[in-house]
Amino acid sequence: MKITILTLFPEMFVGPFNYSIIKRAQKNNLVNIEIINIRDFGLGRHSVVDDRPYGGGKGMLLRVDVLERAINEIKEKNNSYGTQRIVLMDPDGSTFNQSKAKYYSNINHLILICGHYEGVDERIKAFIDEEISIGDFITTGGEIPAIIITDAVIRLVKDVLKDGVTDEESFSLMNNDEIKLEQPQYTRPEVFKEMHVPSILLSGNHKNIQNWKKLSQKTKKA
Ligand SMILES: C[S@@+](CC[C@H](N)C(=O)[O-])C[C@H]1O[C@@H](n2cnc3c(N)ncnc32)[C@H](O)[C@@H]1O
Repeated sequence: MKITILTLFPEMFVGPFNYSIIKRAQKNNLVNIEIINIRDFGLGRHSVVDDRPYGGGKGMLLRVDVLERAINEIKEKNNSYGTQRIVLMDPDGSTFNQSKAKYYSNINHLILICGHYEGVDERIKAFIDEEISIGDFITTGGEIPAIIITDAVIRLVKDVLKDGVTDEESFSLMNNDEIKLEQPQYTRPEVFKEMHVPSILLSGNHKNIQNWKKLSQKTKKA
């Protein structure tokens, strides 16, 4: 799988993408992450990427012509990859969740666009597949949302984690549109400040333990 991220701040991705599972997935060639600076497609001597909103208002908007040029070049360069999906980070978009992460993990080439400043010229919507929000709040730019989405997607890419590991995680879909939440878990010490690990988990009775785990899982509607 390839993930291309279009951003004005490529340095923001250095830390999060160089640790743990994301780092290992790249090293094992399971995911190829490409960070592209939108400014490389900027206009004129000063590589302009933004401008003031028509009709007035605070802040600057990313220009649609600059982004369209970037999208076209990236799409063309990668057209041998297979399925492509272009996603704009946008607080007005549909909310990201685990089933969306699962869906993206099966796309061959995911292109994430990070807005910044006041946002992006509305006409960008003609050149993308969908807008995604990470929740009902505003972040300074699309970089942190893109990092969150990339992380959630990569752990679901085939062979990144051991088979079956993510099936047990919270938010994996069950039948009847229900979402499963993982049961409580414990490790040493057995007693901490008079709080005991449930005795059944120490019983060694595998069948009873599995039953307890099942009964302790909460669910909620998808
Ligand atoms: C400061 S925000 C712009 C907010 C916009 N003026 C508004 O009121 O909806 C700049 C950029 O951050 C990103 N962003 C902010 N909040 C987000 C969220 N909840 N989910 C996804 N992206 C977000 C988007 O790319 C957005 O274009």
